[in-house]
Amino acid sequence: MKAAVLHQLGQLPVCEDFSDPVAGEGEVIVEMRAAGIHPIVKALAAGTHYGSTGDVPFIVGIDGTGVLADGTRVYCGGARKPYGTMAERTVVPKGMCLPLPEGLTHEMAAALANPGMSAWLSLTWRAQLAAGETVLILGATGVAGHLAVQMAKLLGARRVIAAGRNAAQLESLRALGANAVIQLDQPQEDLVAAFASEVKAGGIDVVIDYLWGAPTEAFIRAISQRGLDHKAGRVRLVEVGQSAGATITLPADVLRSSGLEINGSGFGSASIEQIVKAIPEFFALAAQGKLHIELETLPLAQIEQAWTRKGDGKRVVVTL
Ligand SMILES: NC(=O)c1ccc[n+]([C@@H]2O[C@H](COP(=O)([O-])OP(=O)(O)OC[C@H]3O[C@@H](n4cnc5c(N)ncnc54)[C@H](OP(=O)(O)O)[C@@H]3O)[C@@H](O)[C@H]2O)c1
Repeated sequence: MKAAVLHQLGQLPVCEDFSDPVAGEGEVIVEMRAAGIHPIVKALAAGTHYGSTGDVPFIVGIDGTGVLADGTRVYCGGARKPYGTMAERTVVPKGMCLPLPEGLTHEMAAALANPGMSAWLSLTWRAQLAAGETVLILGATGVAGHLAVQMAKLLGARRVIAAGRNAAQLESLRALGANAVIQLDQPQEDLVAAFASEVKAGGIDVVIDYLWGAPTEAFIRAISQRGLDHKAGRVRLVEVGQSAGATITLPADVLRSSGLEINGSGFGSASIEQIVKAIPEFFALAAQGKLHIELETLPLAQIEQAWTRKGDGKRVVVTL
């Protein structure tokens, strides 16, 4: 079969022949149709993701959509190494095949599942978002951020604040439900003031953080207060991505003087059971037309062009 094979970490995958997978006990073969080039797919291929074992060669792609032998359309993930999802066929645990709802195309589901999961699990499980709360999305201009804005609204957030660098993308988020936007590429003092003004106006209950690094430090400064007589509200910050930096400096007294609570969401902290439960929940919303996502498709034969395409708020999906 044809597959996108990575021979060396940090290099581009190439489309070439690879031996067909054979299903073992509890596994199933999926005839693949579409797979998204998510940041984690590239980070695993670069060897920079915590999930990377360093073993090569392997077929790239962590999830995607396809068809089972009985014709069922499914979303799938968890392929047995060295197999991946950017191949004509893959092999996955039976339990990692979820039927696609009617109205959701293979391409749309492949684009949506990974970024959608990051937003849905963070908002529902880690942040326990309650209706009427205010949510800040740090890094809202990416695919996951776009979905987090929409999902926060669908889950009943009163106010959603979108923060990002790309001014055009940021403005477009208003049409998807953002009540306010904050431009990130401004002097750090001005950024702290912009966050502080939102905190003072109505408070921020939940932060979904795709950035970490300097923008997160600016937000933490904005909720830091001096004096002994202030009352600080809870702020649940969920760390989901690190597009702006791998580390932050966290002053000790912030944790004593503010209501900041930090946790994270991703493979490892979220169990497979939670992921398998979450995906059909937001797939159903997408099938009803309630979630908007931009995507671009390219065939497997053009994997190198697809790999190097700039996202700009849309997900590149490889079709098979
Ligand atoms: N934990 C999980 O379960 C999970 C799941 C999915 C994704 N993620 C992570 O979440 C992050 C976003 O994923 P995605 O699918 O939305 O990726 P994406 O579509 O490629 O978007 C990445 C975004 O990051 C922004 N960005 C990059 N560097 C930045 C910086 N220095 N300062 C501010 N913004 C910056 C980009 O903004 P510009 O437009 O300005 O370049 C872009 O909007 C990634 O780190 C990804 O690995 C985590």
